[in-house]
Amino acid sequence: VMDIRKLYGDMDIFTYDPGYTSTGSCKSAITYIDGDAGVLLHRGYPIDQLAEKCDFLEVAYLILKGELPNAEQKTKFESDITRHSMLNEQISFFFRGFRRDSHPMAVMCGVVGAMAAFYHDSTDINDPHQRMVASYRLVAKMPTIVGWAYKYSQGQPFMYPQNKLSYAENFLHLMFATPCEEYKISPILARAMNRILILHADHEQNASTSTVRLAGSSGANPFACIAAGIASLWGPAHGGANEAVLEMLHEIGSVDRIPEFIAKAKDKDDPFRLMGFGHRVYKNYDPRAKIMQQTCHEVLTELGVKDDPLLKLAMELERIALEDEYFVQRKLFPNVDFYSGIIFRAMGIPTQVFTCLFALARTVGWIAQWNEMLTDSDQKIGRPRQLYIGSDVRDVPPIEKR
Ligand code: ACO
Repeated sequence: VMDIRKLYGDMDIFTYDPGYTSTGSCKSAITYIDGDAGVLLHRGYPIDQLAEKCDFLEVAYLILKGELPNAEQKTKFESDITRHSMLNEQISFFFRGFRRDSHPMAVMCGVVGAMAAFYHDSTDINDPHQRMVASYRLVAKMPTIVGWAYKYSQGQPFMYPQNKLSYAENFLHLMFATPCEEYKISPILARAMNRILILHADHEQNASTSTVRLAGSSGANPFACIAAGIASLWGPAHGGANEAVLEMLHEIGSVDRIPEFIAKAKDKDDPFRLMGFGHRVYKNYDPRAKIMQQTCHEVLTELGVKDDPLLKLAMELERIALEDEYFVQRKLFPNVDFYSGIIFRAMGIPTQVFTCLFALARTVGWIAQWNEMLTDSDQKIGRPRQLYIGSDVRDVPPIEKR
């Protein structure tokens, strides 16, 4: 290893912090988390109150603008978002270029990144008005993008957004309506969807949000930054966990096999982890997981699903894990993804679309954080250093001597 002073001689302090576990990368006024107490606030409001008393667009307004909207502001915001919900028709051809069996998250990365080519009139990041137009466009068009990614995978015609519907209803319409028959939106599903969107709206400096900020710190356009966030969210250690939880529950299969999987999760020679368990910040029950568990019961009851075997399995897995010394000592509790997959499945949303839904909801958090970063006078291009552990300087040998 090179003498570290040779590399970092002019720096007073060098911090080696893999995974940035103790590095604050920015200032932010959007979201507060107390991981030990299991507290999550957006702009000071507790997540349970927001999930109970607000609709998703009210929370989106709060996250984006700092205050909850009054009635007039709410109506104006709803109409502005609704006005932007259609996609440029050319984008439909972009979808058609993908294989039908593409993962919808791959389609989302591509389509959202391509939006910079379709909406270049809102890519001037120095103009606050254009930044807001781009933010509205992203929040408004995301349900259409997810709906179309799903429809394309099913070989069904794309549906167009309906302005008379709420944000959550419109998303259900884009996913499940067809041109052949009337689709009645269940108010229970719409309410549950609304709550799920709120629970995923922002979560301070997680991997995908930090990715959006890092991409944006170079001055990249908002559509490219959100595409980067989507790519980061896709991983199973992050948003991809909701898909992985369901796969894991299917693999476990029955309650009597739980101890075998708990043992696998504890075995340090086995890479298997209990998906939907553990969190970098929460060392207590994730407050979103509590609401998600309650929503899960409500949805299954309302849909008349009695004794859902996966829910039973999940609850038993949670009970056994939370009594196990390994999980207790490491403060590994169920996170937001643990129950969301079961609700999505009951709603008829295919597993591959789960993480797209997370991306849809998180878009408002990402874009609010991106806007906040661009108005912060401390803002600099993100450029972490490294601890170099490679070879010392050496001469290039001729090819026959390598
Ligand atoms: N199953 C078994 N053991 C686990 C789990 C798990 N799900 N999560 C953490 N551990 C163990 C680790 O092996 C480690 O044990 P050790 O101290 O004996 O080495 C200890 O708990 C601490 O784990 P880290 O990996 O250091 O914790 P980190 O903060 O880096 O990781 C993460 C957090 C990625 C969420 C992790 O808990 C995990 O992989 N969970 C499963 C995937 C998941 O559910 N992700 C969703 C996250 S929430 C979200 O994105 C919305």
